[in-house]
Amino acid sequence: MAQNEIAERIAQLRDEINYHNYRYYTLNDPTVSDAEYDALLDELRALEAERPETVTPDSPTQRVGAQPAEGFVKVEHPAPILSLDKATSGDEIRAWWERVSKFAPEDAPSPAWVVEPKLDGLTVVLHYEDGLFILGATRGNGYVGEDVTTNLRTIRTLPLRVPIGGGDPSGFGRPKGSEVTIPSRLVVRGEAIMLIEDFEKLNRRQTEAEKKVFANPRNAAAGTLRQLDPRVTATRPITLLCYAIIEADGPVPATQWETLNYLRKLGFPVSEHGARFESLDEVIAYCEEWIEKRDTVPYEVDGLVIKVDNLTTRAAMGMVGRAPRGGVAFKFPGREATTRLLEIGVNVGRTGALTPFAMLEPVQLGGVTIQKATLHNFEDLERKDIRIGDTVTVRRAGDVIPYVVGPVREKRTGEEKVYKLPQVCPSCGEPVISPEEEVAVYCVNVACPEQRARRVSYFAAVMDIEGLGERTARLLVERGLVQDGADLYYLKREDLLELEGFAEKSVDNLLAAIRATQERPLARTLAALGIRGVGGAIAQLLTQHYASLDTLAQADQEKLEAIEGMGPHTARAVVEWFARPRHREFIEKLRQAGVKLEQEIATAPTESLLDGLTFVITGTLSRPRKEVAETIKQHGGKVVGSVSGKTDYLLAGESPGGSKYRKARQLETPIIDEARLMEMIGQGQKDNSDEEQLALLPK
Ligand code: IVH
Repeated sequence: MAQNEIAERIAQLRDEINYHNYRYYTLNDPTVSDAEYDALLDELRALEAERPETVTPDSPTQRVGAQPAEGFVKVEHPAPILSLDKATSGDEIRAWWERVSKFAPEDAPSPAWVVEPKLDGLTVVLHYEDGLFILGATRGNGYVGEDVTTNLRTIRTLPLRVPIGGGDPSGFGRPKGSEVTIPSRLVVRGEAIMLIEDFEKLNRRQTEAEKKVFANPRNAAAGTLRQLDPRVTATRPITLLCYAIIEADGPVPATQWETLNYLRKLGFPVSEHGARFESLDEVIAYCEEWIEKRDTVPYEVDGLVIKVDNLTTRAAMGMVGRAPRGGVAFKFPGREATTRLLEIGVNVGRTGALTPFAMLEPVQLGGVTIQKATLHNFEDLERKDIRIGDTVTVRRAGDVIPYVVGPVREKRTGEEKVYKLPQVCPSCGEPVISPEEEVAVYCVNVACPEQRARRVSYFAAVMDIEGLGERTARLLVERGLVQDGADLYYLKREDLLELEGFAEKSVDNLLAAIRATQERPLARTLAALGIRGVGGAIAQLLTQHYASLDTLAQADQEKLEAIEGMGPHTARAVVEWFARPRHREFIEKLRQAGVKLEQEIATAPTESLLDGLTFVITGTLSRPRKEVAETIKQHGGKVVGSVSGKTDYLLAGESPGGSKYRKARQLETPIIDEARLMEMIGQGQKDNSDEEQLALLPK
């Protein structure tokens, strides 16, 4: 290639790659395959290696790889980067408007507001000159920030040149009607955030590497952007959403609403959840709707920002202190609170595993009072150095149980006590063991009442016995009425009537509910036995090879392991379980009670475990998507391009596409990862949580 041809090809490749980045990362709608994209990038790298003098800052090859900085240079912002006053209820929003509306000029157009999600991230100020990204800074004190340009370049959704696709003479795909002119100098404000999923992944990686874990996605994003080594930044996915123009030396839109559209047209990532209203009632209704909706977006939203739409009006309304009057931040109820950890309690699970939980001084969290929070496991407790008497941060996300994030070390008085691992089971008082290769502590007493109660309630949950929860199970065990799930079928009406809170009607209902489970499919009954590792998916797999519990009980380890999808640990657990006389008795009791222990029609091993299920795939998987889709099809499933009410599962890989992901969350479509898919087709590696397994069983 002649020199000028090389230069031309380089320019063309850059435009094209930047455009594909935009389609992939910002629009979640790629138009080329990963392989095609890689080929373009490889070609560009090769050409740039030949002509290093042609490397420009907007070249996509420059997103990663720059050298660590010594420290950050201070940058003055072209205009103060302000913050907003807060409101926490509809009434406070009305009060805000009452207060500030009189500052609007008399000739102002009738009021309208734009409401946008308040992203819980880190404000960044992005400078473009002639469309080229030249400088990016943190907010700092609002007047002076830090130059984090090199780190910002690693953000895939940050356009290195705008408008995206603008330099492309052939128009290789830029949407029609998106021709926009830009001021030669343009400064844009946005929020750098980390997706919740990426945050969790990062923390898992940090834990494995024995490095510091981040308290929340905001801290992770901030820590990442203020990393001195951009190569580290590049390994931690940050994303960006833009919402304001700070400065421009040419014509720019006159309203917030148009600004959002304009930024979008230029190729900036802009939240799709902005909305414009002409009545304050609608603004408030939208805010209230969002309190529920906050968990359906893949990033943390800590409130909404309400802005006067007309920018001239907003500017004329002026400021109070350092906050403009023309906007207010509506804050959601908090999800984190601090309180004192009074005591550490211990739960006993059905397998005998002990798990710690925290008893707390009552505290308000997300609208409810909480007094208990989980502590995950003893290792976690030790690693986070949580002590009795500590002031701790507790957190509740979505509808999950609150958990202790960690201690507030600055609040320590020296009176706190280090927790000692339990030596005996809190339920039965027998000594506990902690296997060397596991972090867990176990009670191995088969007669432990708490274990029995958990096993019975697990049996009831898997068999789907209506009205038999943990409380009732515990009561039945305590009264000596049952020792295992099979005993439930032998319960006598008169015994139950003696229990407090059990009237005739509830006893009859309970007995009927128990009887109704005698005909459950074999896979369900097998899963209900509580064999370690045998949840819904594995139980299904086993019943495809063994048509009754009796034939399964005869199987040896070798035979079981030969089944594709069975791991050696589970195979051993099955053999060992059936070898125990106590378990054989359990099965005999089930048989005598009339519980079905075989398959009605012995089904031959089948390949259609995913029969009739529709999947959508998003994000990067461990194998090419085509291959994964092929696997799904081989097992009878279907793969379609977009999430709808008919989608059964969204299979999400790394960096899942925002729109598919959000749609799935909105429609409450189950979102699964690759490991879960492999489980479903009986090729899984690890055990799942009880609830997940139950979801897979036929009714
Ligand atoms: S507008 C004067 N819009 O929330 C304009 N802020 O107090 C003020 N934030 O720290 C900012 N998402 O960094 C605006 N869509 C959004 C935002 C947003 C997050 C942050 C911002 C500031 C605080 C507002």
